[in-house]
Amino acid sequence: MERVTIKTPSKQYPVVIGYDILTELNEFISTSIPKLSKILVVVDEEVHRIHGDALKFLQETHEVHYFVAPRGEQSKSLNIFDEVISYALTKQLDRNSLVVGLGGGAIGDLSGFVASTYMRGISFIQVPTTILAHDSAVGGKVAINHSLGKNMIGHFYQPEAVFYELNFLKTLPQEEVRSGMAEVIKHALIADNSFYETLRKKLTSFSTLDKELLTYCLKRGIEIKGSIVEKDERETGIRAFLNFGHTYGHAIESASGYGKRTHGECVMIGMIFALFLSMKQGEEIGMELEEFVGWIKNLGYNLAISEDLSFDVLFELMTRDKKSEGGSPRFVLLREVGKPYLHKIDHDMLKAADQYIRTLV
Ligand SMILES: NC(=O)c1ccc[n+]([C@@H]2O[C@H](COP(=O)([O-])OP(=O)(O)OC[C@H]3O[C@@H](n4cnc5c(N)ncnc54)[C@H](O)[C@@H]3O)[C@@H](O)[C@H]2O)c1
Repeated sequence: MERVTIKTPSKQYPVVIGYDILTELNEFISTSIPKLSKILVVVDEEVHRIHGDALKFLQETHEVHYFVAPRGEQSKSLNIFDEVISYALTKQLDRNSLVVGLGGGAIGDLSGFVASTYMRGISFIQVPTTILAHDSAVGGKVAINHSLGKNMIGHFYQPEAVFYELNFLKTLPQEEVRSGMAEVIKHALIADNSFYETLRKKLTSFSTLDKELLTYCLKRGIEIKGSIVEKDERETGIRAFLNFGHTYGHAIESASGYGKRTHGECVMIGMIFALFLSMKQGEEIGMELEEFVGWIKNLGYNLAISEDLSFDVLFELMTRDKKSEGGSPRFVLLREVGKPYLHKIDHDMLKAADQYIRTLV
């Protein structure tokens, strides 16, 4: 079992990572939330179908209610938020109650937002079930979507703890493994060259991902995210580096229609786009881009972009990015692996990078 402590200005909390670690949850709850009244588990329908009994042991000592949400992005809506709050009120959860989010990033975002708003904020524990959630469960960003934009209604709200039971990952579909591992690769690229070198050497296929490597990847990813969030909890500075690959990636994800492509695959395309831009700025980066792309293709990432997604559409979406300045998007680029910085990029350079990406199929 591994343990990482996240120390933000607003809260310090443990992330417990490993196999068969859920037994620790009961003890944590009784020592850390002594006045606990009731528990609301928020879970998506697919995780409930496969792992619905995973938290059954909580019922031996507590009154536990389950809210089963739709899977994926559909759960992060105002309607579902309203349904969860109504359910919690009906079950008479009070200020001493606890919300447990059992699922991937979508459930983590929804349940965290519920916890942050119910009676002005109640306790919250995340039990992530996807690889991508090594990223989303740490750092306290919780949100639901508005029809005019993703994550537009949200908070910074840190959990009491994260219990990352890695046995859940055994049932994760391959495309979700690939999606989550893109964020692991991102963490290495923005913060740690030796982590990146290890990934380059040992990560040759997702079907042969062994327990030791997976645990190392998730722990190191969480440490990197944690160390950035500790310095900049509310994203006024370096937390923006976590958006490496996300400006172009989000544009593809949004233009394709949310849920059509996985978040991580779009971020992976966005990272190649940002690496191309870094090189065009004269940065050496310390890697051959073609070699990197070859590795990524071998890992099964689909880098193709539909011809229906024109550059103009993607450009428009990129200029709406929160990092834009005066109509020009700002990108997280790399001087070298582990050395990110923000840089404004003009239209023509973005078009050249977009053209490069379209040659990669
Ligand atoms: N808060 C943050 O800091 C942050 C960071 C990154 C991403 N996010 C958010 O996270 C979401 C994406 O997260 P995600 O990729 O985990 O997606 P997800 O929660 O939608 O889960 C992906 C799919 O995998 C299924 N699933 C989950 N666990 C499973 C398991 N163990 N076995 C089988 N199937 C399983 C789910 O039912 C779903 O269909 C997005 O909404 C994104 O905005 C938030």
